[in-house]
Amino acid sequence: MIDIKIIKAEETYAIRKEVLRKNIELPFIFKGDLDKDTFHLGILLDHKLIGIVSFMKSVCKDLKGNQYQLRGMATLDQFQGKGYGQQLIKFGSEVLKEKQMGLVWCNARVVAVNFYKKAGFKIIGKEFYIPKIGDHFVMFKKLG
Ligand SMILES: CC(C)(COP(=O)(O)OP(=O)(O)OC[C@H]1O[C@@H](n2cnc3c(N)ncnc32)[C@H](O)[C@@H]1OP(=O)(O)O)[C@@H](O)C(=O)NCCC(=O)NCCS
Repeated sequence: MIDIKIIKAEETYAIRKEVLRKNIELPFIFKGDLDKDTFHLGILLDHKLIGIVSFMKSVCKDLKGNQYQLRGMATLDQFQGKGYGQQLIKFGSEVLKEKQMGLVWCNARVVAVNFYKKAGFKIIGKEFYIPKIGDHFVMFKKLG
């Protein structure tokens, strides 16, 4: 049974550590995790948390309008490629639409660009480097 729901920031930490901070010496707690506008989603398979994503109210300098940043998107290794990540983005987009947001953006790792494209995101600007992680693109999706 699949369930998608709002979870606490602390509940994202184990998967962030395992999937997003594997061999990467960077914090797994993000500034803004506990802000009142921030929300975190989890996808559960038979009550086990297998995927996470966080949404924070943050403006990208290249984008106009009411917007949120998607952060900390991760699915446990053994559950990747089964559509769970897409389900999380779809659910998050609906929450953002209810909040009257016009768009959502993210710093997408190059390896995840196709995943975000499939979810309706587009690249804006040039590739840039985030130390210890690698090359990224800013990607955004209009919510309509
Ligand atoms: C990127 C990620 C969040 C996608 O979640 P997911 O649940 O695997 O994705 P879904 O199954 O819903 O989406 C499928 C699409 O994602 C992409 N994808 C699937 N597995 C992937 C992987 N291991 N790495 C990158 N992209 C992947 C493919 O484009 C796939 O499309 P296809 O089915 O046509 O081949 C997940 O693979 C992951 O946690 N990767 C490691 C951490 C990471 O890179 N996070 C993004 C940081 S910006």
